[in-house]
Amino acid sequence: MFLLVIAFGCKSNKTVSVTKTVDTLIKYDRVESLIRKMTLEEKVGQMNLYNGFYDLTGPAPSDGDAAQKYDNIKDGLVGGMLNIRGVDQVRQMQKLAVDNSRLGIPMIFGYDVIHGYKTQSPIPLAESASWDMKAIKKSAAMASREAAASGLNWTFAPMVDISRDPRWGRVMEGAGEDPYLGSMIAKARVEGFQGDDLSDPLTLAACAKHFAGYGFSEGGRDYNSTDISGTTLHNIVMPPFKAAVDAGVATFMNGFNDLNGVPVNASSYLQRDILKGAWGFEGFVVSDWWSIKQTVTHGQSATEEEASMRCVNAGSDMDMESYYYIKHLPKLVRDGKVDEAKITDAARRILNIKFELGLFDDPYKYCNVDREKAEIGSDRNIADARDMAKRSIVLLQNESGLLPLNRTNKKVAVIGPMVSEKNSPLGSWRLASEDGSAVSLQGGLESYKGVDWSFYQGVKLIDKPAAFIFETYINETDRTGIDEAVEAAKSADLVIMALGEHGFQSGEARSRTKLGLPGLQQELLEAVHAVNENIVLVLFNGRPLTLPWAKDNIPTILEAWQLGNESGNAIADVIMGEYNPSGKLPMTFPRSVGQIPSYYNTKSTGRPDQPSDKDLVFWSHYSDETLDPLYAFGHGLSYTTFEYSNLKADKKENGSIEVSVSVANTGGYDGEEVIQLYIKDLYCSLTRPIKELKGFRKTEIKSGRSKSIKFTLTDKELGYFDNDGKWFVETGEYEIMVGGSSDNVIKVKVDTTPVVVVEGK
Ligand code: BGC
Repeated sequence: MFLLVIAFGCKSNKTVSVTKTVDTLIKYDRVESLIRKMTLEEKVGQMNLYNGFYDLTGPAPSDGDAAQKYDNIKDGLVGGMLNIRGVDQVRQMQKLAVDNSRLGIPMIFGYDVIHGYKTQSPIPLAESASWDMKAIKKSAAMASREAAASGLNWTFAPMVDISRDPRWGRVMEGAGEDPYLGSMIAKARVEGFQGDDLSDPLTLAACAKHFAGYGFSEGGRDYNSTDISGTTLHNIVMPPFKAAVDAGVATFMNGFNDLNGVPVNASSYLQRDILKGAWGFEGFVVSDWWSIKQTVTHGQSATEEEASMRCVNAGSDMDMESYYYIKHLPKLVRDGKVDEAKITDAARRILNIKFELGLFDDPYKYCNVDREKAEIGSDRNIADARDMAKRSIVLLQNESGLLPLNRTNKKVAVIGPMVSEKNSPLGSWRLASEDGSAVSLQGGLESYKGVDWSFYQGVKLIDKPAAFIFETYINETDRTGIDEAVEAAKSADLVIMALGEHGFQSGEARSRTKLGLPGLQQELLEAVHAVNENIVLVLFNGRPLTLPWAKDNIPTILEAWQLGNESGNAIADVIMGEYNPSGKLPMTFPRSVGQIPSYYNTKSTGRPDQPSDKDLVFWSHYSDETLDPLYAFGHGLSYTTFEYSNLKADKKENGSIEVSVSVANTGGYDGEEVIQLYIKDLYCSLTRPIKELKGFRKTEIKSGRSKSIKFTLTDKELGYFDNDGKWFVETGEYEIMVGGSSDNVIKVKVDTTPVVVVEGK
């Protein structure tokens, strides 16, 4: 390939404050005049974020940490709080700061609004399976409406960490393994949370986290170190963060991980050079919980002072719960170890966001009891949650066409620990939800009449697992329900099995080494299968699972993740054919844990294929497992079928490539398809992945009709970053692939080498 363009990562063209309207300038002028009045301590105070520390209905705390926090708020030494919620509580806390402190600066109130506030939408990984940016944006907007109505103005979301390791429990909180899809989703979520105007009292400031590389924790063990090459960092990990900046995200959170030897919150390279430098991010960076303190545990900083100095110098603006900044920064400045300009810059960034939120015009702007009553759990929000849940479901296989269910005279046994579960489908990170408030699968199915339903648990859940290292949520010893379930299965026309992980088996610190069905569920599945093979398996899980036996033996498998409050209704809508499934996997499902990391955009290696001499073992493979995944990235079926044809790729004079393809709905149902475009740069100075997603379109195609779909590939899609983060676009031959899954595409080649006109010829 020839080198055509060399450029550095360009500046964001849309950050929090780039739209310098007169209004914005006035706000910033107000910030500057406030900053001029602030003492060093008060500026450091803005950089101090406290967790909720006392029950506001009781007497003020008089000793210990709580008293210190209380006094600091009154003295104007606290920038914001997390985990205080509800209009009354927020109002009281805000009053403490505004009425008592010298300058009356309001606090910002943050909360982990990850997939809903009280009304839970599907977990983010599930929403990502919808590949539906409009729906994802709407879901984030719904979460904002409820949380903002509850007094909050800042969410610690979206988590945009790419991960290739389903052992890592936090994959439930992200958008999966792909940087392109992840970037689109990052944008949709930021725009959904923030709306068009941060000062709208029904929107929240968003926070892209965890900058950067946290999803690459070694061995999938949460909080573990990360060692990531420059090309992987810049091409895979960074794009969703950059997309969040371009979408105008107000804040960033850094991570807990050590990246290539430097704790990320102490990395100037990440925060000053890239984020605030090359990308021009003008919001503020909050540390993760205790992470400033943890630079000492990492073995980088020897003392609390050194930890504070390293992190602030590296560009971490706000300290979540370490109390280090408030304790040490003023002295570090006086001793000449930290430049006061860095403190002023951090305080200015934080104050700017408070202005954007409208808190200086009205510190109680988010505290309106009537709005709180009207918004939280409203009918509109429940309807939005159901719609999002339907779109998140993925039909993994449907071999004998068992779905959609034909209702006439069907006797259906519904079996499994998830059948009547109302808690687990809420998933992890649902802090403000009501326990047990989800519609169970049983509840959803029963609303459909005309079917003879019966329900059996088979294997019980454990309500409160012992709080020790091995948390068991699904019974491993109690077989008492299995016989009854098997008996029911014998006489049923169809069995629906509801199996998977408990909602708390994924999430933060929920890493697992085994990814099969936990507890006795595999035993239950095989026992039922022995008496009735007509099984629809509905999976409830927060991460890809390894289920090779089920894939080979169960005709129909529906991936239903943890879908939030409307879980049972949404699954029933799909089972009954009220909604034709349209989801596609945002993350590869491996066949076994040994295949991890498992992802579609791998490199070729020098020995990718089995030699024609079958006795030769010297090629890149495992001797006890195939290379193909259980289900590939982008996979997902419909009740109808789609056929792809007529793929064309034309090079244009401006260097772009125009791609067109025909997609026909050849089945008996109307349906939505996610048309996916992948490229392979065939020969390149730095090896490129065998396939990279560079475009997709979700569209409805009526049965018997077809659509022509067009994509344009520009330098933005064709280029790549080298190990130093420099951007290159090379000309030459590309393979263009389009299909309904990363492992089911049609291909065409196109050469982008400019034609050299030789005179006289
Ligand atoms: C998590 C963050 C979260 C924070 C505040 C940390 O443990 O890593 O993602 O926002 O807690 O709850």
